[in-house]
Amino acid sequence: MATALHWLLLGSLSLMVSLERSVFWRGAFLIEGREFGWREWWKNTIIYQIYPRSFMDSDGDGIGDLKGITSRLEYFLDIGVGAIWLSPIYRSPFVDFGYDISNFTDIDPIFGTLDDFDELVDHAHDLGIRVILDFVPGYTSDQHPWFVESMKNRDYRNPYRDYFVWKDPKPGCVSSDPRECIPTNWISPFDGPTWTWDETRQQFYYHTFTKEQPDLNYLDPSVREEMKNVIEFWMKRWVDGLRVDAIAFIIEDHYMRDDPPNPNFQPSELATRVVHHSTLNIYSHNHPDHHEIVKSWRREVMEKYSAEPNYRFMMTEAYNKPAILVDYYGTDDDPEADFPLNFQFMDLHAKDLSGTAIFNLVDEWMHNVPDGKWPNWVVGNHDNYRIGYRWGMEYARAANVLCLLLPGTPTTYYGEELGMDHIKVTFEETQDPWGKNNPCCWEKYSRDPERSPMQWNMEKNAGFSTAEKTWLPVHDNYKMGVNVESEQKDPTSVLSLYKALARIRMQRPAFHTNAMDYGIVTDDIFSFIRRPNPDESEQPSYLVAIHLGKKSIVIGDYVNALLANGVTIDSSEGVVEISSRMDRNGETVNLEALELRLGEALVVGIGKDSLLKTEL
Ligand code: NOJ
Ligand code: MG
Repeated sequence: MATALHWLLLGSLSLMVSLERSVFWRGAFLIEGREFGWREWWKNTIIYQIYPRSFMDSDGDGIGDLKGITSRLEYFLDIGVGAIWLSPIYRSPFVDFGYDISNFTDIDPIFGTLDDFDELVDHAHDLGIRVILDFVPGYTSDQHPWFVESMKNRDYRNPYRDYFVWKDPKPGCVSSDPRECIPTNWISPFDGPTWTWDETRQQFYYHTFTKEQPDLNYLDPSVREEMKNVIEFWMKRWVDGLRVDAIAFIIEDHYMRDDPPNPNFQPSELATRVVHHSTLNIYSHNHPDHHEIVKSWRREVMEKYSAEPNYRFMMTEAYNKPAILVDYYGTDDDPEADFPLNFQFMDLHAKDLSGTAIFNLVDEWMHNVPDGKWPNWVVGNHDNYRIGYRWGMEYARAANVLCLLLPGTPTTYYGEELGMDHIKVTFEETQDPWGKNNPCCWEKYSRDPERSPMQWNMEKNAGFSTAEKTWLPVHDNYKMGVNVESEQKDPTSVLSLYKALARIRMQRPAFHTNAMDYGIVTDDIFSFIRRPNPDESEQPSYLVAIHLGKKSIVIGDYVNALLANGVTIDSSEGVVEISSRMDRNGETVNLEALELRLGEALVVGIGKDSLLKTEL
């Protein structure tokens, strides 16, 4: 097993050069342009999110698994993806589909074994693909042995006594029933209460999410140590990075202050439960001490395992304004994440979609990213409806263009590269606890629609599984060509577009900087220009122009718009290198009167010799 070999090489990490630069060597194309340093591999790739239950089922039980993922790794070489992030694969009762963990250092049998995991990592590394794991530091499953022990008593001899956030009934509360005296008014992001009464300990325990996910108590130094050991366990198994889950909820206010009401909250007629946004979550979320903890993971564990060429990458998950999020970059002296995931596009819905809306979201992010730090973009994940539902299917291609060509690292949620759509799931078939626990309005909450099985081909269950029934239904549109195999053959498919975008961002130095300039920005159009660093000025620049309005056609004068923003271009003629419908590639266009069709995005090469020599 190659992992044993890894161990032998631990003392001579520099021998592990096979990982460095091998990304894409076996793929359809070679890296050209700027070489990124060994600590920067995550800057020059796409991070592809795999939802393991839904990616590929190898054993016919209708649920995706690790062997399934391993069997599909070559796909990433073909589409130009150099890093995969796996949503949780640890032992779990699956109340919250793997985000409720009963053993942080073992694989759930549904997904396979630790040997299967090692095999996946080894094979990925052989192909030059990095593997990122979901790290869920804030809470466990209520079936985790730590919680089982912690529940038993509050005896000081119980080593797990303080592993969780246990509290007595609120002081001063007058009620004959202690269960009514909840310690604080904090509301779960899943809506509803965050405290559950435990009869044995005669105390409440805190859970940011479901009651089956008790929060760990980071004020207990043993908990901090345990979680560092968890990171270390996976670093030793050659994991290349972590996506840190729900980082805004690790520590709560030490004084147990109630959150104040949100003056802007408008109760919706659907909401029959206590709603998260009805309070301002100033005491329950975003405690400043989070940063110290993230720094300690970076400094004390990840750095220790970051010998050349194996830099261990970290990205954090929190839904916050960019001004708050950017603190997770840490400082130059004491860094935290390589980037906090940027969810600017998540709350934008069809009715508000416009060029100006996108500009505002992009610009807010770009302005907040500290100097020298690297941006990133996300258009979908397992917690939000797919982009086609949120923006409209006619903009799904444009979303890929934005995500892959804005400055920084893109994250692709599986199936986005195919234009996969959300599925409809009845209440009876609903799996997601957020839907199941809200019968009144499950459709509003359930995240099942965006978690449907990956569509590989025209065979049964879209080639995902041989089972009679898959854990969630497969979208029927796989029969109409929305699947990998069919799209590979169709030069105008979303997948062909995606591959062309992946190629250009990898090959052209204009896309290797963390900067851009804006072109035309109106309600109909969002556009920007990407230019190489001055020392590579012989390389082409690119105008990316996207129609995000409602008109069937918009025509714009990009030469003058760029001039107004201080960018002069030599010629008003450009060549379309990629058109989102893949039907205008190679067309010579006049940048003073460039036409875009509804939802269309064009990547126009500017300057001499701009056209890629390779076939797109
Ligand atoms: C964040 C994860 O992305 C989400 O899927 C999960 O439900 C919550 N954490 C709570 O566990
Ligand atoms: Mg399976």
